[in-house]
Amino acid sequence: MKIFIDTANIDQIREMAWLIDGVTTNPTLVAREKRPFEEIVREICGIVSGPVSAEVTALDAPGMISQARALAGIHENVVIKIPMTEAGMRAVTTLSQEGIRTNVTLVFSAPQALIAAKCGASFVSPFVGRIDDAGGSGMEVVSEIVEIYRNYGFATEIIVASVRHPRHVLEAALLGAEIATVPYAVLKKLFNHPLTDVGIDRFLKDWEQVPK
Ligand code: E4P
Repeated sequence: MKIFIDTANIDQIREMAWLIDGVTTNPTLVAREKRPFEEIVREICGIVSGPVSAEVTALDAPGMISQARALAGIHENVVIKIPMTEAGMRAVTTLSQEGIRTNVTLVFSAPQALIAAKCGASFVSPFVGRIDDAGGSGMEVVSEIVEIYRNYGFATEIIVASVRHPRHVLEAALLGAEIATVPYAVLKKLFNHPLTDVGIDRFLKDWEQVPK
């Protein structure tokens, strides 16, 4: 399973670059950095060697396509994040014909993911945390997408997004999703278990008894 970091913060990306397989950003994450968008994307591509998702802000297909072409020109690893709308899917269809990779974002249902795959999306991002927040089951949606993609052999990779806690990552892995995109704070939690700390303390205490 691949792990992406869900951030536009250069320090966080630099720190975790040894572990991660890619990066996802979104307009909210970029806005926190108070720097020009394209400058951030270029810098991220210089740090990681995997896919870097950068989102368009236009709402019409021609606008999305022209923003996408410009972003794709920054670096070969840039993947264009397109919202799951009818206009977005028109843009994904054109971009996929041009060989520009897309990540269909703001996906909240399996039928949306089916359409994204049919349009040639390289990645699809179900937002599990936001589905849970709204009283649904994010992982049930992921499970349906996994089954649909398997049934028809779609090459679209599932990025489990809007991850809130390590259990989301665990469940994504159990379902066979190709990727989880994980915020920095959750990524750090993946290393931890209280019994690991207790075990280290115990070993170090016992080690003091070894004659030097
Ligand atoms: C996905 O690519 C998005 O950037 C992200 O996971 C959204 O997460 P949020 O619901 O925590 O904003």
